[in-house]
Amino acid sequence: MTVLALVGTQWGDEGKGKVCDLLAGEADLVVRFSGGNNAGHTIVTEKGMMILHIVPSGALRKGVHNLIGAGTVIDPAILRKELDALEEIGLPQDATTLTVSPKAHIITDMHRAYEAWIEEHLGDYKIGTTLRGIGPAYALKALRLNLRTGELRSEETVRIRIALLAKILQATEEDAEKVTEYLLGIRDWFLPLLGDDIKLVREAQASGKNILLEGAQGALLDIDHGTYPFVTSSGTTTATACTGLGIPPSAITTSIGVLKAYCTRVGEGPFPTELSDEMGDLLRERGKEYGATTRRPRRCGWFDGVATAHTIAINGLDSLAVTKLDVLDGLEQIMLCTAYELDGRKIEHFPTEAEVLSNVKPIYEEMPGWKGNTTEARNYEELPEGAKRYLKRIEEITGVKIALISVGSHRDETILIDNPWI
Ligand code: IMP
Repeated sequence: MTVLALVGTQWGDEGKGKVCDLLAGEADLVVRFSGGNNAGHTIVTEKGMMILHIVPSGALRKGVHNLIGAGTVIDPAILRKELDALEEIGLPQDATTLTVSPKAHIITDMHRAYEAWIEEHLGDYKIGTTLRGIGPAYALKALRLNLRTGELRSEETVRIRIALLAKILQATEEDAEKVTEYLLGIRDWFLPLLGDDIKLVREAQASGKNILLEGAQGALLDIDHGTYPFVTSSGTTTATACTGLGIPPSAITTSIGVLKAYCTRVGEGPFPTELSDEMGDLLRERGKEYGATTRRPRRCGWFDGVATAHTIAINGLDSLAVTKLDVLDGLEQIMLCTAYELDGRKIEHFPTEAEVLSNVKPIYEEMPGWKGNTTEARNYEELPEGAKRYLKRIEEITGVKIALISVGSHRDETILIDNPWI
């Protein structure tokens, strides 16, 4: 039995969808443990491209059970849309393939409208959220006022709670009535998906099944250890996989961090290695760096070894999956940030305050690029020498071995060095 935690090591969009889908091929149970439909996991299969926002990536593999865990927040309308899209491509989900934790929290239109209001009022200080209602749902969960999926079972609870939430979220009675009727109307298809998440996981563990914990967002967006306040509202690390699912830390047998060969960020907040020049534009165009959820252009920059050292430390990673290496094909030079300069001094730690981080300057190490096409490589030996040197340097800087390299969006455009399931 392996319990494999897969998490993002940057600001999200590292290519977790593709890696998750690949690893789901050997998984029995795939779990989303935090976040909601702010995530957009892009997966390319023989059936075409699919972007999953809340359903775990295991849904694209027959014979895999999927669990949306207690630590998540769910917009039922998005879940419904995704289930319909999966059915359309011949991968219907029902209670035998998908379980939703009764402890996950509900997002409504009122949460989304309230978030839009906050962002508007923040003006220049806005976070640049995905406007999917994630922040208000987690905030109200912490206030112990939000509605949990399991509470949909009681009509009375739905009516009372939604009326109360409407007052807090500045919604009208009419809005509240609409939301209430909507939530009561989905119970026929939604409630059968609710199941005993803890029992499901315990039984999977007891019978030696492979469990894949599918992280969302990235460690630099973690509510506690990310670039606060420019973060999401949940935990995004291996530790939060435990709390979001309901397993002890000792249950995780291996953890893998997904690292894009360069760096991107969407939304506001400091980004030391950001390239606001032609190179940034080139990375964006080549890497198709537009948000899978909001279509916003992503900010692009070089690999940041200081930020990555921080995220590796907070996650305790056993190996790395390096994605989008092919985007760097043919570049003359590639830069790796190995330290920062702050007020004329060299620093090697990742500053805690966003304001301080926005004042650091990256100290770069320059490497020659490589000619040739990594997309065609199917094993490490077939990679151009320059690409191998770049990967070696990432291993040296991070101190973590690379287990998988992705050189394109298709499943077969992958070099598996070490199978993390074994
Ligand atoms: P929220 O999660 O919608 O509240 O957004 C907070 C910040 O996290 C914003 O900068 C978003 O752009 C960013 N964010 C949230 N989810 C993702 C993701 O899946 N990929 C990349 N950025 C994300």
